[in-house]
Amino acid sequence: ELKSGPKDFLHISDFDKATILKIINQAAEVKALLKSGDRTFLPFKGKTMAMIFAKPSMRTRVSFETGFFLLGGHSIYLGPDDIQMGKREETRDVARVLSRYNDIIMARVFAHQDILDLAKYSSVPVINGLTDYNHPCQIMADALTIIEHIGQLEGTKIVYVGDGNNIVHSWLLLASVVPFHFVCACPKGFEPDEKTVDKARNAGISKIEITNDPKEAVRGADVVYSDVWASMGQKEEAAYRKQKFQGFQIDESLMEIAGPKAYFMHCLPAERGIEVTDGVIEAPNSIVFPQAENRMHAQNAIMLHLFGL
Ligand code: CP
Ligand code: NVA
Repeated sequence: ELKSGPKDFLHISDFDKATILKIINQAAEVKALLKSGDRTFLPFKGKTMAMIFAKPSMRTRVSFETGFFLLGGHSIYLGPDDIQMGKREETRDVARVLSRYNDIIMARVFAHQDILDLAKYSSVPVINGLTDYNHPCQIMADALTIIEHIGQLEGTKIVYVGDGNNIVHSWLLLASVVPFHFVCACPKGFEPDEKTVDKARNAGISKIEITNDPKEAVRGADVVYSDVWASMGQKEEAAYRKQKFQGFQIDESLMEIAGPKAYFMHCLPAERGIEVTDGVIEAPNSIVFPQAENRMHAQNAIMLHLFGL
């Protein structure tokens, strides 16, 4: 039995396994339809989406806007200077006004509390397009990509190497719903949020390991995953972090330890020569572009689910 979950898509763990797998399956179906050139499936016809961006974006903006359009809808981009949520206007007012114009809201913000407030005061579904805490749409796309390349998520060993950041939190929240083996190798002091690690462990579904040894971590990996060392909002710490993260670059020798079956993934944007070498990102087993493409398909399916379509 499917529990539909809350009206919003803020954390993967707000949904049960059946719902998450249903969304991923639907993503694959709609992807196949769109890739066949079929443009007759227009479930979002007559619907509008407000997209709030407090931070820069390429993938999230373009994939949401394009995906919503391809399925018949219209979206409105609101950049960092437009509504200035929390500065020009309180979040709860933004939520109630946009809810009266739009059928759905997507937001990329700094503080996670902002997306919680937006969802609380909005009468329409709110989708998390990244906060300082998590990035659920990314990890839904990643799960689809892994299923396409490996056949399934269950039983795979996914090794993230780098900062214990928003991407890691979303992996942990997925691991609390769907079983797989997740390892995060990060420098001391850059571990993911303890409560989120506990939540994933206490769910008792997946094997969760947090380590400071990337070489040991990647042995037998099905996927080696990377993200920037300095996230949006931390760019002034880039030099300091570069020091602290020595030994955590994903290079050819680390991929060799991982073994020939290991795929390389990165949510992008990547800083080549910092967290990953150019050679690794350009290698035949790098699936970063199919991964980026799947943002659109995963999000289309998330929106279909939220609209009950
Ligand atoms: N991966 C991702 O969210 O990319 P953007 O920051 O370009 O949206
Ligand atoms: N951790 C990165 C992800 C970008 C998609 C950031 O928050 O900037």
